Amino acid sequence: MARVLIVGAGLTGSLCACLLRREMPDKVKLVVWDKARGSGGRMSTSRNPDNASSLVDLGAQYISASSYYAQSHRSFYEELLAHGVLEPLDAPVEGMLDKAGTINYVTPLGMSSIVKHFLKESAGAELFFNRHVTSLFQKGASWEVHRKGGEWEEFDAVVLTMPVPQILQLQGDLGKLLSASQKELLETVSYSSRYALGLFYPPAAHIDVPWAVNYVANNACIRYIAIDDRKRSRESPDCGPSMVVHTSVPFGLQHLEQDKEAVQPLILEELNKLLPGLPQPRSVKCHKWRYSQVLASVPDCPGQMTLHAKPPLVCGGDGFIHSNFDGCVESALRVFDVLKASL
Ligand SMILES: Cc1cc2nc3c(=O)[nH]c(=O)nc-3n(C[C@H](O)[C@H](O)[C@H](O)COP(=O)(O)OP(=O)(O)OC[C@H]3O[C@@H](n4cnc5c(N)ncnc54)[C@H](O)[C@@H]3O)c2cc1C
Ligand SMILES: *[C@@H]1O[C@H](CO)[C@@H](O)[C@H](O)[C@H]1NC(C)=O
Repeated sequence: MARVLIVGAGLTGSLCACLLRREMPDKVKLVVWDKARGSGGRMSTSRNPDNASSLVDLGAQYISASSYYAQSHRSFYEELLAHGVLEPLDAPVEGMLDKAGTINYVTPLGMSSIVKHFLKESAGAELFFNRHVTSLFQKGASWEVHRKGGEWEEFDAVVLTMPVPQILQLQGDLGKLLSASQKELLETVSYSSRYALGLFYPPAAHIDVPWAVNYVANNACIRYIAIDDRKRSRESPDCGPSMVVHTSVPFGLQHLEQDKEAVQPLILEELNKLLPGLPQPRSVKCHKWRYSQVLASVPDCPGQMTLHAKPPLVCGGDGFIHSNFDGCVESALRVFDVLKASL
């Protein structure tokens, strides 16, 4: 059995794991490492510290299926709908660019539940958190993968799913394995940056706006506000409202190197100007997305890049296609094709 390491328990990594478990159960032994404390990656969901049934999606907000992908990724949509992971968006949205034929879905249990679903479907894969890969070395027919803390393990194949700049930061043999043209292509990939706030209000609080989601126009700081439990049609009087605020990309860039503790009050001040009379939140969570959405992906890329054929070292993720659910699904399918052909 080939020992395969998947680096990253975001959507791309977890779907790769799921496809490998489903299609090649007798051929691979799967290990997933993520540097974070939990799964989800940029499909990140936080819980209200006072009531775990109230959530905020700090990263991705909903799944938008174009008519093309609704068809070509139909089995994935059907699976997620059948398991209740996805539901059609049924709440008032202001200012969203409506694309003809696109269907929007929300996740009753938060966006990370999509990733958790695919990890659950990868039964048998060993999943480890707090494992931060720092370098890779080729040792004959295998990869020696080192992580923070100095420990290392050997694998027969490695899949990297972190944002491309973080792939380029890896030490070891990667520098000499990359061809000049691959390096050049990877260096063209760029991401937007933004901050996200998750706010939890006390049970009696009321947020008096006629929408669940608002794309804010003409504000230098704030680009997006969601009354998050309302977005997923799960508002309850027993638990206060939850809210998500995303900053604009220029604001994110301008404050990129500052501590989030210093930036959070600036965003809150702007929020209170936009929605005067807003109640006091009970708790606030601030997250800096240095790599938010892909602005420029690897040009003409079919969803993966094979850095080394034998032993396989394959990269995937939204940087190799485009930044949404269907981009990651497509990338996971292409990474799977490469591994299937080589293992
Ligand atoms: C603010 C925001 C809003 C968005 N809105 C939407 C939306 O509405 N709809 C939509 O479809 N998409 C949206 N997206 C994009 C979507 O979230 C991403 O395309 C998708 O989640 C990317 O998944 P991934 O698995 O490729 O990468 P990631 O989710 O980034 O996963 C990579 C994982 O690798 C881990 N990792 C990184 N480096 C290492 C290392 N050295 N060692 C070990 N682990 C490591 C990370 O912890 C992470 O868990 C949004 C993203 C953001 C940030
Ligand atoms: C938490 O919220 C749910 C509804 O979202 C509610 O039914 C429940 O009573 C709340 N629990 C507490 C401890 O407040």
